[in-house]
Amino acid sequence: MTTTLSVKSPSVDNSHLKALKALDIPARLLLGPGPSNADPAVLAAMDRQPIGHLDKAYLHLMDEVQELMRYAWQTDNRMTLPVSGTGSAAMEATLANTVEPGDKVLVCVNGYFGHRLMDMAGRYGADVCQINRPWGDVFTTKEIRAALETHRPKIMAIVHAETSTGVCQPMEGIGDLCREFDCLLLLDTVTSLGGVPLFLDKWGVDLAYSCSQKGLSCPPGSSPFTMSDRALDALNNRKGKVANWYLDMSLLANYWGKGRTYHHTAPVNMTYAIREALRLLAEEGLDARWKRHQDAAERLYAGLEDMGLECHVPREHRLHTLTTIRIPDGVDGKQVTARLIDEHDMELGGGLGDLAGQVWRVGLMGYNATSDNVDKFLSALKQVLA
Ligand SMILES: Cc1ncc(COP(=O)(O)O)c(C=O)c1O
Repeated sequence: MTTTLSVKSPSVDNSHLKALKALDIPARLLLGPGPSNADPAVLAAMDRQPIGHLDKAYLHLMDEVQELMRYAWQTDNRMTLPVSGTGSAAMEATLANTVEPGDKVLVCVNGYFGHRLMDMAGRYGADVCQINRPWGDVFTTKEIRAALETHRPKIMAIVHAETSTGVCQPMEGIGDLCREFDCLLLLDTVTSLGGVPLFLDKWGVDLAYSCSQKGLSCPPGSSPFTMSDRALDALNNRKGKVANWYLDMSLLANYWGKGRTYHHTAPVNMTYAIREALRLLAEEGLDARWKRHQDAAERLYAGLEDMGLECHVPREHRLHTLTTIRIPDGVDGKQVTARLIDEHDMELGGGLGDLAGQVWRVGLMGYNATSDNVDKFLSALKQVLA
């Protein structure tokens, strides 16, 4: 079947385009699932002229970014770098480099992003299998052991911080199980990096990815990626080429590693931005950063309780960076989010997938994780609900 696209030739009259005014972006407080507001210092760092992506000053920045990223993730992985693109590009990089047609990939699905991992793995020819929990629950090591025993996968993927549900998956013991069953552990840390405790090496994580626009307080577009030596072995022992040229780490290694050979033009200003974002994280220190997020989240929980609102996730599994609030009966959730934007310039997220229409999602991430923002949010929500 052929699809006909109707192509309208562009008008030569561009007077309406000429009349466009310079960019005018409304000032919003982004308290949804992301992006979050960028730290002004990060925006200032971006506001420089680009330099060549092979300039020695730029190469030095690349080294710094890699070292800072290892600190943020608590890993010694050599192959740690920012992927040019958003979190999904780094997510795809983990699978593209390690999956070959027919490889078994087990995905733990308890929210929206588990489904995305399954979809991506399938596109690289994986034999995908899954275990499921309701949206809002976590997986136990017992369930994971049983699934590894049954499926014997090459890779097991799990989401540390499920942005669709507000759950933080406990990681103790999962890496040991993956080693026992000789499988690579792939972890989504998009909503945990820079916000909640993460110890990749201690947890035995082999492949991980994140994003810039949440806990790192940076605009979207430069996404942390890392792979362990075990995962590198899988890459080096592939039968065929990585099917995705742009994300092929064996090629990117020649740019980020010793070779320094051109691969693609680096998004130079995004590297300035993520370098500054990671520098700010190192300056604050991981413990202080995690505590700031925990304090903000606990202030939010207390305020919600005072208002008689309920969180979707039991306290012990709540993710400090992202809270899901049950929408009370009789309240139009979408109307509330619309009014928060219109009347308070405040973005709040709605529910996704299984939780659509049931919850609001509040992000307190990176630069935005402050008691002041919690108070602003609670006061605005009170006004709108009243
Ligand atoms: C847990 C999780 N994984 C993956 C992604 C995809 O990242 P991006 O939207 O930056 O491509 C997101 C985005 O919010 C996410 O929350």
